[in-house]
Amino acid sequence: GQQFGLKHLNYTYQEGEGGIAEALGLAKHFVDKEKVVVVLGDNIIEKSIKKAVEEFDRQPSGAKIMLKEVSDPERFGVVEFKGNKIKSIIEKPKHPKSNRIVTGIYMYDADVFKIIKTLKPSKRGEFEITDVNNEYLKRGTLTYSILEGWWTDSGTFDSLLKASKLVAKKASKKQGRK
Ligand code: G1P
Repeated sequence: GQQFGLKHLNYTYQEGEGGIAEALGLAKHFVDKEKVVVVLGDNIIEKSIKKAVEEFDRQPSGAKIMLKEVSDPERFGVVEFKGNKIKSIIEKPKHPKSNRIVTGIYMYDADVFKIIKTLKPSKRGEFEITDVNNEYLKRGTLTYSILEGWWTDSGTFDSLLKASKLVAKKASKKQGRK
């Protein structure tokens, strides 16, 4: 991390599978009252998110999510739009209303920790990050950006293989190979 100016790392433990929202709640003591960017460890991206983070920095309060179009939206949090406004976000719907999904890159103000405390476990027994995002949507303070470049998760064998191929292709392009 030296090349990014990283000075130190904090870490914490999540026992069991309590969900992304629960995991984020565990970071409260080092986020404190600042804004926070959350990136899921299995999300692999091609391009920088700097522009979106700077936009969020200028956003007075609320949250920002990063969206992407995929061919298998039912595996993710799916966004339903009304014009260019988000109408709802549904976690892993059987019949997705669009192919635009919420990637695992989220930005929040410090209210997120209060919101997490109000959540109830979902059907899969987890504290869902989608419920957090829907609360910001209800408050009217949820913004979004479309992620540039390719994106994939890597939490299944198929998606891990896909991620490896995408990264290998990018690396060989960089080295001037086809
Ligand atoms: C999680 C979120 C989902 C999001 C996805 C992105 O899914 O719940 O809304 O689209 O990350 O990778 P999970 O990894 O818990 O299945």
